[in-house]
Amino acid sequence: MTKTQSIYSLHRAGVSGTGIVDPDFPIDALNTAAWMPEGEARLGDLGLPEVSEIDVIRHFTRQSHESHGVDTGSYPLGSCTMKYNPKRNDRMAQLDGFRYAHPLQPPATLQGLWDTFADLQDALAEITGMDAFTLQPAAGAHGEFTGLLTIQRYFADRGEDRRTILIPDSAHGTNPASAAMVGFQCRLIPTTSRGLLDMETFRSLLGPDTAGLMLTNPSTLGLFEEQIEEIAAAVHDAGALLYYDGANLNALMGIVRPGDMGFDVIHVNTHKTLSTPHGGGGPGSGPCGVKSFLAPYLPAPHIRRDAAGKAFPDWDAPHSVGKVKSFYGHVEVLLRAWAYIRTLGGSGLRYATETAVLNANYLKARLADLLPPLFEQHCMHECLLSGGSLSVDAADFVKRLIDFGIHPPTLVGAGCVHFGPDYRTAMLIEPTETESKAALDLMIDSFRKVANEAAVAPFMIETAPHTTPVAKIVKDESAWLSVLETSDGSVS
Ligand SMILES: Cc1ncc(COP(=O)(O)O)c(C=O)c1O
Repeated sequence: MTKTQSIYSLHRAGVSGTGIVDPDFPIDALNTAAWMPEGEARLGDLGLPEVSEIDVIRHFTRQSHESHGVDTGSYPLGSCTMKYNPKRNDRMAQLDGFRYAHPLQPPATLQGLWDTFADLQDALAEITGMDAFTLQPAAGAHGEFTGLLTIQRYFADRGEDRRTILIPDSAHGTNPASAAMVGFQCRLIPTTSRGLLDMETFRSLLGPDTAGLMLTNPSTLGLFEEQIEEIAAAVHDAGALLYYDGANLNALMGIVRPGDMGFDVIHVNTHKTLSTPHGGGGPGSGPCGVKSFLAPYLPAPHIRRDAAGKAFPDWDAPHSVGKVKSFYGHVEVLLRAWAYIRTLGGSGLRYATETAVLNANYLKARLADLLPPLFEQHCMHECLLSGGSLSVDAADFVKRLIDFGIHPPTLVGAGCVHFGPDYRTAMLIEPTETESKAALDLMIDSFRKVANEAAVAPFMIETAPHTTPVAKIVKDESAWLSVLETSDGSVS
């Protein structure tokens, strides 16, 4: 059910958004059908809307105002780290020298970009405790793919036939997907009642065919794997490698480093932790870091420094897994990450992490009577709360929050590998460090208002949201319309 207009409704036959102002422009160049190999051109009316430039601009500008974003309201979508991204990082990434750079322009004119990327690689290595980084992967999942390729190539070079990757059942869905794409078999490890890796099953699955364990720490349940040193030792004793899904790095920066915990390969979701707005499919960036013994396998070109410290792209990589993206990766996203890291510095990054963890624990404590936490121990940057005692369905409850200017938190059953019935009503809430205490208190009040409303007017919750251009499809539409007519976003 939608109250928003599609661009097709603006169609007026004969209206065009472009005009040719250059009288010498070869009209034939516009005849795209002429460029196509014979038989492959789709001729005839494609049914595209004919719309003027101003109508297009107004349409999409209006639509941009109809979306919920970090710049318009709180966005505690667990696992996604939807934090506010300072605009100065956008400005730095868009400096003309960066924005108009082309990878094939004369090398001497790209020195600044290479030096910046070398600096970013060094900074990521310092933050994570790894030895070498590639900036090429275009997203977290792509970083996983790249990292797993390096693991595969490493074992192939050693002549070891290891085809299994172990993955906890709380992992993000991309973990098994990436492992399967690389050609590994996946074995799932269950989670204990404390939300941690089941050590007994883990040890029983670890064997000579194990290539690695992919671990997210803190996990997608917002919990730190307390036995990480024991886990790392067991993996290495079995001759396997330890992969770190760095999507939750926002909980660790400046406090503890994956490299020091024993991880051999990691990826970082720069678009979560390091200042790039994300959502809507990207672009993102998933730099992949490795310990030195895996560095020869990283994609080429690899940005390195010469003896004088000057950066250059090194294409001479005989052991590389190959290119995973053209040239250097998503340049603008990487530049934002660099600007963010250099602006905050080490102490600033640590402060961001501490605040992210504090904010999550504050929400968890203040909402405990309404939404009891699934796990008693302190959470990290996100908390998992149960909506089991609500008088309405948790999926409806979170949608009503939109009417209060808050994006729904993640219902974990929706996005992860295997969450059993215990998790059906569980909400993963990640407030992030950029929400002030006042904003958190407002969020808590909104959760309480919706819970109170659920007790007296459940229908108001079941049919929410009421203030958005796109509404939920409900069974009894006539009842829905009556709510729409009377609703101003609160119970009337
Ligand atoms: C824990 C975890 N791992 C991996 C990913 C995949 O990252 P991307 O969406 O950039 O591919 C995500 C994304 O939400 C995630 O939360």
